[in-house]
Amino acid sequence: MVPTYSSESVDKSILKGKTFSVIGFGNQGRSQALNLRDSGCRLLIGNIEDDYAKQAEDEGFTVLSIREAVQRADIILVLIPDEVQPIVFERDISGALRAGQVVDFASGYNIHFGLIHPPTNVDVIMVAPKMIGAAVRTRFNRLSIPNLIAVNQNSSGHAKEYALALSAMIGGSKGISFDSSFKDEAELDLFSEHAIDGPSLLGLVSAFDVLVQAGFSPELIILELYQSGEIVEVWKSAVEKGLLHQLEGHSTTSQYGQLTRGKSATSEQVKQEYRRLLTAIHDGSFVREWTQEMQANYPRLTELKKEAYSHPINETEKQLRAILNH
Ligand code: NAI
Repeated sequence: MVPTYSSESVDKSILKGKTFSVIGFGNQGRSQALNLRDSGCRLLIGNIEDDYAKQAEDEGFTVLSIREAVQRADIILVLIPDEVQPIVFERDISGALRAGQVVDFASGYNIHFGLIHPPTNVDVIMVAPKMIGAAVRTRFNRLSIPNLIAVNQNSSGHAKEYALALSAMIGGSKGISFDSSFKDEAELDLFSEHAIDGPSLLGLVSAFDVLVQAGFSPELIILELYQSGEIVEVWKSAVEKGLLHQLEGHSTTSQYGQLTRGKSATSEQVKQEYRRLLTAIHDGSFVREWTQEMQANYPRLTELKKEAYSHPINETEKQLRAILNH
């Protein structure tokens, strides 16, 4: 088991009196800024002039340009999208850094894949919540927020203490930190998106197509597949009771069906596909593809989202949501 640290057991005094600049006020930026403010930290927001900056001002934060926010901080949290970080880091952050500052990332992506090279006189740490941004806020001081922490550069000799203390302040009283590395965070995160999240989403769409063709009612299909909310309860139960032990909450007919038909997902062919996806992450080919996509202004992502949002499943969902939210 990797070492873990509950927020309450961590010495946070190393952050006393420090100024924090949160760069970006999106999914993670807003939630982490609000949590840090509630944890008693002095905070600035560094943001380009956009709606996120306005929202930060509306919520009472001082918003500066990214460069100025970096200059005025001791601890800098880089919370803008991974694919734009290298450009912004090069343009607005790197030259504004001075010796002794701490730069924190919420993902191992850019450091592990060598897309950002911070100067050697700063600490480089990671506090990566294994939680979507909105929930980092809603769970604060109520439910656990697991953060992966790591150190990439230990210029001060205290980088791990900074990472632990920052993670504890972001996670609140129920936060828990796990020792990790930039590599493990980046590669596991991408693998879970490529091997599990994507195929699960698009697998449901394929099932919808097949069942519509077979003559079933579209509303009843998505009610059965996910829209009833049962799927949320099942995954909640998986988290609470165990992935496989949650089966006890299903009928024996369901248990038998799942364990026999589900075997197809354990075939050597599927594992081969998982290994292929992992190789494309590990050797950097996915990262190169995504960087090129960003540099070309997202043509493939735009096309794929257009295709996804025009699929008939969206209209059926809308009708069903109206009925379920009566
Ligand atoms: P986001 O997409 O919500 O970021 C929006 C922010 O980025 C805004 O403040 C916007 O002004 C700024 N921004 C966008 N484009 C910009 C540009 N070209 N130049 C300067 N600023 C720009 O980002 P999100 O999802 O919060 O991700 C931030 C970091 O957190 C990433 O490293 C991500 O991997 C990590 N992370 C995200 C999670 C999530 O739930 N979204 C979960 C765990 C980690």
